[in-house]
Amino acid sequence: MASNKITFASILFLTIFTYSNAKLGHLKETELSVYYQDYSGSQNATVIEIPGPSNGALNFSRFGAMFCTDDPITVGFEEGSAVIARGRGLYVTSALDGSNTHVMLSVVFIDGEYKGSTIELYGSDKQFEKVREVAVVGGTGKFRLARGYATFETLYFDTGRSHAIIQSNMTILHY
Ligand SMILES: *[C@@H]1O[C@H](CO)[C@@H](O)[C@H](O)[C@H]1NC(C)=O
Ligand SMILES: *[C@@H]1O[C@H](CO)[C@@H](O)[C@H](O)[C@H]1NC(C)=O
Ligand SMILES: *[C@@H]1O[C@H](CO)[C@@H](O)[C@H](O)[C@H]1NC(C)=O
Repeated sequence: MASNKITFASILFLTIFTYSNAKLGHLKETELSVYYQDYSGSQNATVIEIPGPSNGALNFSRFGAMFCTDDPITVGFEEGSAVIARGRGLYVTSALDGSNTHVMLSVVFIDGEYKGSTIELYGSDKQFEKVREVAVVGGTGKFRLARGYATFETLYFDTGRSHAIIQSNMTILHY
């Protein structure tokens, strides 16, 4: 009787497993290379510091400093390149010495083949290193159940306009 129960449970499990596998389809890998057009100056800023009790000038090294961002994300390096997504979210300087920022960011696609889908980025980012990396922890739409990683590399910075162009490569496994 006991062995019958086990067999029944195994069959049920196998059935559910096979069914959900069929429903999800095959695991796909997508590689994307995009550019964040980031403006941290006071005019038309796409990143601002969230006001705190002792905020002075924008300072990414101050422990506890929080930033809200809505950067246009373009397909090419140029500032006028087509915008396919927005980088919307928060980051918080999370290392006592200011070296790391904690990134909680959604890549919200607003145009192109992924319009309406999102990719969720999360993790500790060594903000002053040449190449930074955070995890892809999820997604919606075409990126449901996504996981993977994303790199960031600042390729250009215009101090006068506080305009940075940051290349981001994402490797994403999803269904
Ligand atoms: C800010 O945006 C306005 C309206 O789009 C534009 O006229 C102005 O030149 C922009 N300023 C900067 C510094 O880019
Ligand atoms: C930014 O904050 C750090 C840590 O408090 C401090 O050492 C640094 O001098 C500040 N930079 C500016 C430009 O205020
Ligand atoms: C990101 O991808 C571009 C284009 O493939 C490549 O030139 C660049 O080296 C990559 N950056 C990183 C940090 O892997």
